[in-house]
Amino acid sequence: MELPKKSFKAFILAIIYTIALVSLLAAYHIYWKGHLSYQNPRNKMSPLNNPERKKYQVQRIEDVQSKTQPYNLTLEYINITSYPYIMNEPNKCKDESPFLIFLIATVANEVESRRAIRTTFGATLENGATVMCLFLLGKDNTQESNSILEESEKHHDIIQKDFQDTYNNLPIKILMGIEWVSNYCPRAKYVMKTDSDMFVNTYRLMDLLGPDQPQKQNFFTGFVLEKHRPHRNKDSKWHMPYSQYAGEFYPTFCSGTGYVFSGDVAPKILNSSFHVKYIYLEDVFVGLCLDREGVKVTAPPHPYLFNNYRVRYQPCVYNRIITSHYMTPTDIINYWKITQEYKEKCSKSR
Ligand SMILES: *[C@@H]1O[C@H](CO)[C@@H](O)[C@H](O)[C@H]1NC(C)=O
Ligand SMILES: *[C@@H]1O[C@H](CO)[C@@H](O)[C@H](O)[C@H]1NC(C)=O
Ligand SMILES: *[C@@H]1O[C@H](CO)[C@@H](O)[C@H](O)[C@H]1NC(C)=O
Repeated sequence: MELPKKSFKAFILAIIYTIALVSLLAAYHIYWKGHLSYQNPRNKMSPLNNPERKKYQVQRIEDVQSKTQPYNLTLEYINITSYPYIMNEPNKCKDESPFLIFLIATVANEVESRRAIRTTFGATLENGATVMCLFLLGKDNTQESNSILEESEKHHDIIQKDFQDTYNNLPIKILMGIEWVSNYCPRAKYVMKTDSDMFVNTYRLMDLLGPDQPQKQNFFTGFVLEKHRPHRNKDSKWHMPYSQYAGEFYPTFCSGTGYVFSGDVAPKILNSSFHVKYIYLEDVFVGLCLDREGVKVTAPPHPYLFNNYRVRYQPCVYNRIITSHYMTPTDIINYWKITQEYKEKCSKSR
């Protein structure tokens, strides 16, 4: 009678251990994968979980998604030169090439965001490093073009080509900026692509790029995504059908929330873009162009510098980082202001 009882006990224990192991693995998968994965709403720091930001974010996603299906099946390759300019600023770099150009993806109605960016991180710094800011727009039929024209005449910082301003045309929008840099500002030292809902600490970025250091070549950095798997779930905002991209992983790329590259990389991306099959995710598309040109993505010197989520506000933390996501125009202005005010204090405590 002893033996069966013992083995029954062992059997029960084995089941308990198995259940424990499986739940642990599941928890690991849900927590870490969810937490760290690219633009994942399960990310605890994502505004999707923050009621204060929820309305703003949901509205942005709807803005972007309501207009089209998530990819354009009739577009096979992008020929960026084939799209005519609606607005251009060909003489902006004639007299002086800036140290840094911001290429900012925006849509027509984000007037407040552009206003905030012009007066904060997109402006030339007090220490003299020249910063230029360009806003990239497609054609938006719902918008009165008069107000954009007025804004453009006032600030001369809007570039627009003739393509529909939709989420799936983001690669066209970014290529427009990269083509512009290659053609009209080829001597710019560095370029940073970012979005209109981002905070960028330009001073901290200057520490990384170093206006006094020799210019880097073949340099590309940001929030690095390695071995990132395409989302195959149809409900995902980042859904990628096999017909568009069949690989198991994307090549190493940087999140479109903010990446920086040396000026020499711009014509390389442009050259490659004619030969890389269109894929609607702008940051992945740029990654594929870099891969084709043999430009290796460089990890930033600290992992906390570039962030594709909203970093919780603390003045000294914001003095240390370069990017933070999901910012309203008011956030951008306030965070910039306080970050500057705390600069001295924070540099002492570093
Ligand atoms: C999709 O691509 C085709 C071919 O380039 C283009 O004619 C069409 O306007 C695009 N559709 C949208 C919604 O951008
Ligand atoms: C791209 O379009 C331009 C202008 O329409 C054309 O001259 C050029 O040959 C095209 N390039 C490619 C690679 O198709
Ligand atoms: C881009 O392509 C053109 C023509 O194929 C070539 O002459 C040029 O050197 C290329 N530029 C870069 C930066 O690779």
